[in-house]
Amino acid sequence: MRTVDLITKKRDGKELSSAEIEWFVQQFTAGKIPDYQVAALAMALYFQGMNAHETTALTLAMANSGEILDLSSTVAIPTVDKHSTGGVGDKTTLVVAPIVSACGAAVGKMSGRGLGHSGGTLDKLDAIPGFSSDVSSNQFRSQMRNIGIVLAGQSADLAPADGKLYALRDVTGTIDSIPLIASSIMSKKIAGGAQAIVLDVKTGNGAFTPTLETARRLAHLMVAIGNHTGRHTIAVISDMNQTLGNAVGNVLELAEAIDTLRDAGPPDLRSHCLLLAGQMLRLAGIAQDAASGQLLAEEALANGSALEKFRALVTAQGGDGLYVDEPKKLSAATITKTVKAKDDGFLARMDAINIGKAATMLGAGRERKNGPIDLDVGIVVHQKVGARINRGDKLFTIHANNSKNIKNARAEAMAGIEIKTEKVFELPLHHDVVE
Ligand code: URA
Repeated sequence: MRTVDLITKKRDGKELSSAEIEWFVQQFTAGKIPDYQVAALAMALYFQGMNAHETTALTLAMANSGEILDLSSTVAIPTVDKHSTGGVGDKTTLVVAPIVSACGAAVGKMSGRGLGHSGGTLDKLDAIPGFSSDVSSNQFRSQMRNIGIVLAGQSADLAPADGKLYALRDVTGTIDSIPLIASSIMSKKIAGGAQAIVLDVKTGNGAFTPTLETARRLAHLMVAIGNHTGRHTIAVISDMNQTLGNAVGNVLELAEAIDTLRDAGPPDLRSHCLLLAGQMLRLAGIAQDAASGQLLAEEALANGSALEKFRALVTAQGGDGLYVDEPKKLSAATITKTVKAKDDGFLARMDAINIGKAATMLGAGRERKNGPIDLDVGIVVHQKVGARINRGDKLFTIHANNSKNIKNARAEAMAGIEIKTEKVFELPLHHDVVE
């Protein structure tokens, strides 16, 4: 087989066979296909799409590019995983995984780095001095057995093909493709070995599936792949028209997640985390239904067990637990600039996409594959859609390390803000659950 033949076949809208997809993933993982050919194929896939058969083949080939963990023999308690399709200010994993683990299910999750304008859990965890998300499959298994929680990145052991493709997609404009997102996420979930999976599918301007219709298609596709591979999978469709919580940027989001684990934090983030935790506890069989799962989750926040679990995770993966207790000691940007409202009215829009792009301009996201990011910078929003605004009220604060970036980031964020004189309703947090 030749890669160029696969590229032209897909470019011309033809279906790739499972054998061709498997060959491509094997060769790519072994470093035998140059990035420019992989990028060309990703672009062809982006434009021509993939049917359900091709998407399942790509998912399984990427999951099989490393080890597929079988946790049933090593972990005595139920295992459950979650994954978000990516959003702005989405630090849900940092809160939900410790909650669910504290309630008695083991959560072993393979996360990603920032992608496009959306943040990634691994970058947020990098903000904890010493923390390593480079976890071998042996460590994954033993940590799941010992403390019931792991937050890992792709390694040579687990879904390495997705790790490589994900980094290339980030810088080649090939992120927002339903089959590519579905196979990326589900390959990690299958390799991670959990028995049950809750997917958080985002919809809105800050999501890779902006319309409810595309989010539903993505949700149904991933739920079908999950159930096809014997994992009880559901998807929650949640709103991503504005940032989740207030903070966007790695250190800022980590601190907000810790705040939420201390039973404080922004109400929207807290509610979203409790809803997902409730569903995860239902699927794990620890709660009879999502509502009673949610009550257990609230208790884990109130009694400190979720925070305790997060501390255990941090220290197990080499991080300094001091920062969990004193997040103020985390590094911080040197310049802050608050932007205030010039008009009275109601906040009609504070688009997540603009806030995400503005944070990237400050250095919070990558411009090129594996490029450096500045963990300290970002944006904190002070208002939510529907809020009554008075002239002079704070809209958002920029956290920067380079004053040159501020002007453009401010303009980008402002382009997504609209204040109207007539009353505006709050946005919903969730739209649907796909079983
Ligand atoms: N999250 C992933 O893991 N992969 C994607 O492609 C998008 C979001």
